[in-house]
Amino acid sequence: MQGKLLASATRTLVARLDELARVTDEAGVTTRTFLSPAMARANALVGSWMRESALDVREDTVGNLVGRLGGPGRRTLLLGSHLDTVRDAGRFDGPLGVLLPLAALDVLRAQGVTLPFAVEVVGFSDEEGVRFSSAYLGSKGFVGRLGAVDLAQRDPDGVTVGDVLNTRAGGTFVPPQAAHRARDLIGYVEVHIEQGPVLEAAGLAAGVVSAIAGQTRAKVTFTGKAGHAGTTPMGLRQDALAAAAEFVLAAERLAQGKGPLVATVGRITALPGAANVIPGRAELTLDVRHPQDAKRRAAFARILAAGRQIGRRRRVKFGVEVTQDNGAEACSPELTKVLAQSVKASQGRALSLPSGAGHDGVIMATLAPIAMLFVRCRDGLSHHPDEYVAPKDLGAALEIMVDFLPRLAARSSS
Ligand code: GLV
Ligand code: MN
Ligand code: MN
Repeated sequence: MQGKLLASATRTLVARLDELARVTDEAGVTTRTFLSPAMARANALVGSWMRESALDVREDTVGNLVGRLGGPGRRTLLLGSHLDTVRDAGRFDGPLGVLLPLAALDVLRAQGVTLPFAVEVVGFSDEEGVRFSSAYLGSKGFVGRLGAVDLAQRDPDGVTVGDVLNTRAGGTFVPPQAAHRARDLIGYVEVHIEQGPVLEAAGLAAGVVSAIAGQTRAKVTFTGKAGHAGTTPMGLRQDALAAAAEFVLAAERLAQGKGPLVATVGRITALPGAANVIPGRAELTLDVRHPQDAKRRAAFARILAAGRQIGRRRRVKFGVEVTQDNGAEACSPELTKVLAQSVKASQGRALSLPSGAGHDGVIMATLAPIAMLFVRCRDGLSHHPDEYVAPKDLGAALEIMVDFLPRLAARSSS
């Protein structure tokens, strides 16, 4: 009976992941960014699936989709992940952590299992930070920590987060209070693809996360002088893009061979942006990560020092604005222990691994204990349209979740 239910719920999960991937702001690929038209359509679609699972559905003022099972006033377990994506994304990064819990609740309902606590499934509106170069706007809103610095972030067109939220509010946006009091929460559990190769190498479908690496993101600018590309001799130029190019390579060099340290320039804009004009300004994003906060900070400082030095040598002004700075976040040993028991029950062994990627759990940890289940993905590939999780592994993750919820209930009531 359980086998058939799991198989049928897994088929629905695969179909829904496919359908959601077709909800996009950019034709032919999957792209959904904070409060974009595609995000509104994604919330409508996922909201309809939440209702099919008998959840009460609402959308909060920052665009998070929340489906609740169980009346008000009960202790609550939060399950979720994000519904926004990177540009040209895969199908699993984010949506898996929203849709798999719905499948698990469906299986439990079909088995006649009722949980002694309420469950809220949350689809966060921004985790990737694609539009504003600062991640976690959705979860920050959910925990009541969306501050002035977040609202002042600008997209490449100069529109701020505050502008977008004011328009959505039809007036002046007031940052929300936390959706829950900490004492009312049992925890936050997120299912996510691993986005790395460890589980695949170990031959395991799933594992538990020990901690989430910290990350620092910044907007870097080089301001030189625009000029005529045909008449300005090479020695007299203040080419902002050439300085930026050196900076990209310096960041790569300074992070190379330093173990888990990674540094990435993911976007670069040259202005004014014409073939026959020397670039007067270049704007870049910089993203630096390391599991140890001190090492991340030191590496970030070294990369900025290199930028300043490049600017001085080229007579180009170097500027930096930190848009995000999150320390590493450990998962809750107690909650993770229960999750690991379910993983063991399914596959005999519960491997514990750190996450190099950021997750909504980083912010949710300010309100509740967190735990994460990682699911094996092919070649460790993510942030790429070929991102893939085998249906068999989705089935295994679902089985783990179906085991975990009553197991947690037994533990909470004992
Ligand atoms: C989120 O996917 C991140 O780690 O950038
Ligand atoms: Mn991602
Ligand atoms: Mn993600």
